[in-house]
Amino acid sequence: MADFLQIFKDKVERRDARIGVVGLGYVGLPLAVEFAHAGLRTVGIDVDEVKVRTVNRGVSHIEDVPSAVLRPLVRKGLLRAQADYRGCRDLDAILIAVPTPLRKTRDPDISYIVAAVDKIAPQIRRGQTIVLESTTYPGTTDEVVRPALEAGGLKAGKDFFLAFSPERVDPSNAVFTTRNTPKIVGGTTARCAEAAAALYRQAVDQVHMVSSTQAAEMIKLLENTFRAVNIGLVNEIALMCHKLGLDVWEVIDGAATKPFGFMRFYPGPGIGGHCIPLDPHYLAWKLKTLNYSARFIELASEINSAMPRVVVQKASEMLNQRRKSLKGSKVVVLGVSYKRDTSDVRESPALDVLGLLHEAGASVTFADPYNDAVHIEGVGDLRGKPLTPALLRGADLVIVVTDHTAFDYDLVVRHAKQVLDTRNATRAVRRGRAKISKL
Ligand SMILES: NC(=O)c1ccc[n+]([C@@H]2O[C@H](COP(=O)([O-])OP(=O)(O)OC[C@H]3O[C@@H](n4cnc5c(N)ncnc54)[C@H](O)[C@@H]3O)[C@@H](O)[C@H]2O)c1
Repeated sequence: MADFLQIFKDKVERRDARIGVVGLGYVGLPLAVEFAHAGLRTVGIDVDEVKVRTVNRGVSHIEDVPSAVLRPLVRKGLLRAQADYRGCRDLDAILIAVPTPLRKTRDPDISYIVAAVDKIAPQIRRGQTIVLESTTYPGTTDEVVRPALEAGGLKAGKDFFLAFSPERVDPSNAVFTTRNTPKIVGGTTARCAEAAAALYRQAVDQVHMVSSTQAAEMIKLLENTFRAVNIGLVNEIALMCHKLGLDVWEVIDGAATKPFGFMRFYPGPGIGGHCIPLDPHYLAWKLKTLNYSARFIELASEINSAMPRVVVQKASEMLNQRRKSLKGSKVVVLGVSYKRDTSDVRESPALDVLGLLHEAGASVTFADPYNDAVHIEGVGDLRGKPLTPALLRGADLVIVVTDHTAFDYDLVVRHAKQVLDTRNATRAVRRGRAKISKL
């Protein structure tokens, strides 16, 4: 009988394997580029035809993937994109990196995974390796993906290989990229893990194998829950410092001089992005089905999601000191992305801050070099303005919500009347006319 694992490994090592990446977003595109860069012919599959067209023109829609890197790979025929699932049978490995959002009820929405797997399942053949990369609750690969792929009669571990390998991409991180961030791999069987590990070794420097898909799924959720809980803790420490009349940033800097047993986390206007605000709820939901309440997750979520209100309350207090109310005041928000130096506004706390300010009757606008416009629930589309001295001078209050490095903070402090700095972005600014308050 043919040893499908050996055949697959040989093909991968000869760079002869053809790879499919489903979902060409923040995770999928860098991954596809990394495989193509390693010399493996890669096809990206995305239902978004605009993304498909731009990738095929060699133009990147993701900041971390420069078009100058993408274009030569497309020209050499190592990378192309398509908007349908034709030809999946001819691929040797298929990696799935589609969104995993939450429903309004905060329950996991794995419909994108199901949709992708339903398209792949009828085309599955012996010797293929399928890997789920989307963050999800422990059990998804084995309980949802596996039965769908096995429906045609082939068996995972025997006929094809199935694994879970969480993506750890940190958008805008110039030090740790897809290539030099170790990759976790858990297989449905040991042979499945071996197949997936052999594949990733072509594109990433270090692969760490674990005993099961569930362990790999849980590792990702531990990583993101760790961040959510620690950000929740430091946000609460910031609230405590405010009550005690202390500067939380000084307190964190001091604590961080301890060379062991402490890790810096920063307070801010709330958490955003596709991961930290959502992923822990995947875990909490799974535990709820086992009659267990994930208390740290719920508490951190409560604190973190209250931060935009804290920002607006603080804004109101600052205006009050100058005998002004939020109603009728001109407020400029700097930065709408969920984190520095990215355009991603998914779950961004800035959207909540803008919405709450609008609700309170303030006249709001924003400046963000990465975003021309944003949609605010209940308000509509809001267009940004360039950050100019006139904009700053005309504002009653400027709120730094996202600390993009492109902002000229000297200019901000020189021209604004009052600055609410939720990120300590103005720490290096010596003096100006603005009164600066921190979170
Ligand atoms: N963005 C991050 O920083 C990050 C980091 C680690 C893990 N993740 C996880 O990776 C997964 C993907 O996240 P992302 O940020 O890349 O999302 P994204 O929205 O940027 O990209 C997902 C892509 O999948 C496409 N898509 C949706 N349904 C599809 C389908 N049925 N078939 C083909 N394509 C489809 C979308 O058009 C989109 O281009 C999520 O589970 C997320 O939690 C994200």
